[in-house]
Amino acid sequence: EKGGYPDFMLKEIHEQPRVIRDTLAGRLSGGSLVIDELDMTAEELNLIDRVYVIACGTSYHAGLIAKNLIEGWARIPCEVEVASEFRYRNPIITPTTLVVAVSQSGETADTLAAIRDARVKGAKVFGITNVVGSPVARESDGVIYTKANKEIAVASTKSFLGQVVSLTLLAMLLGQSAGELTTAQIKLLFSELADTAEQVERILADCGPAVEEAARAMMDAQSALFIGRGMGAAASYEGALKLKEISYLHAEAYAAGEMKHGPIALIDENFPVIAIATKSAVYDKVVSNLQESRARGARIIAVATEGDEDIVKHADHVIYIPKVRDTFSPITASVPLQLLAREVAVLRGCDVDQPRNLAKSVTVE
Ligand code: F6R
Repeated sequence: EKGGYPDFMLKEIHEQPRVIRDTLAGRLSGGSLVIDELDMTAEELNLIDRVYVIACGTSYHAGLIAKNLIEGWARIPCEVEVASEFRYRNPIITPTTLVVAVSQSGETADTLAAIRDARVKGAKVFGITNVVGSPVARESDGVIYTKANKEIAVASTKSFLGQVVSLTLLAMLLGQSAGELTTAQIKLLFSELADTAEQVERILADCGPAVEEAARAMMDAQSALFIGRGMGAAASYEGALKLKEISYLHAEAYAAGEMKHGPIALIDENFPVIAIATKSAVYDKVVSNLQESRARGARIIAVATEGDEDIVKHADHVIYIPKVRDTFSPITASVPLQLLAREVAVLRGCDVDQPRNLAKSVTVE
């Protein structure tokens, strides 16, 4: 049932192009986005003036991408918060607040409690989940299903991608209802989003050797640092979590601009720094963070855009991925990081699918 793959995680990583296609299927009709399951009219959506995205773990990292997209496309203030914090404070919730709860299993205790509290306080709640009929689906006002199908490996991969794509659709829908995105923009964004399925296929076909080289270079390290800026920061957080979960190698992620404010003290000879250095408006800033790290002896692994030949001057190992609009880069950049975490775990002799101390679904606080 592993379909010829050595573990479920690798099988599920390879299912991601299908997940992207299925999550997008039927969502664009005559230049407009349609997400009927949300059960809200464009007028109702247009009243939303604040969004909270609530989740735990990997689902929280998917949530992190939503802030830039919702604020950028719909111009609605958006906060992203872990459910266990959100539920124990007193967030500002009114009837025009939208709470988006993201949960693969649809039964995470803190996320569910956050949904219940938010509804009592009068918010509209949308669930983004992978499990049809799960508590998150049942208790939300509307739901988007991620179409990942059952995920068996404890470390979430294909569900994460389904969540990122679903949140991207939701941000576009909010932009459309707010009148901030034109039909032409929606069509263009949607077609580029759909193209990521093929780009992920190419990454899966091509980046194996570069990932293996990078994994060998870092497998004996005590600790690793993931850095990125903007959309690359969100991908870094998820990359670090995947690595810790399955390889037990300590990893942290930082917005690269924070390096000077503390983490650079960690850097010594051969300390692995994994950087999301894809082409974007902040590319040069990331490169200068790489230079600072390298000057202190760090071993740099860069995830970079195909055709970027300069990056080899700043990195010891480069994993190239196809060029995409920066907004969609977490979809593509996350894939080599998933493969990297898995490869390090395999090299270190870990059980990739069943990491110690972790459960697939966390139904108690
Ligand atoms: C990590 C992982 C966990 C879950 C978290 C939330 O690979 O799987 O961090 O993302 O426990 O679970 P869900 O999404 O089911 O609410």
